[in-house]
Amino acid sequence: MALRDCKQVDFPKITDPRGNLTFIEGMNHIPFDIKRVYYLYDVPGGAERGGHAHRNLQQIIIAMSGSFDLILDDGTEKKVYSLNRSYRGIYIASMTWRELGNFSSGAVCLVLASQAYDESDYIREYSEFLEVAGGK
Ligand code: TYD
Repeated sequence: MALRDCKQVDFPKITDPRGNLTFIEGMNHIPFDIKRVYYLYDVPGGAERGGHAHRNLQQIIIAMSGSFDLILDDGTEKKVYSLNRSYRGIYIASMTWRELGNFSSGAVCLVLASQAYDESDYIREYSEFLEVAGGK
């Protein structure tokens, strides 16, 4: 179910010979208020991030610079997104297992999150994720 709720979102892009500009408003371009922003950078070649799901958190992931792959998994099916556009985000619904890898040199992964950091919201064991996702 969660994978069907995840989607690609192209944000407004103001093109300008001086450089392009993209903006994102909570509850307008994305379906939640932004409570937290974090970013991954200086990712060494071959490193993988993610490897968890969130019980309630919703997120948007954007390749601000460079490129990387995002693998989403709802416990039934998987989908791979190759991100390399600064104006494009992937909305990740709650209860979606995510993995990030194949980072290019200099890649920056921006994450917009619906809640403050809360370790108890994480599911870090895939077996537990499958149990919760399956409603067992
Ligand atoms: P984690 O979410 O596991 O990283 P990723 O999914 O990108 O591989 O977080 C890594 C560490 O950073 C973990 O110890 C928790 C900490 N952390 C915070 O303290 N605040 C935050 O907002 C985030 C996202 C992580």
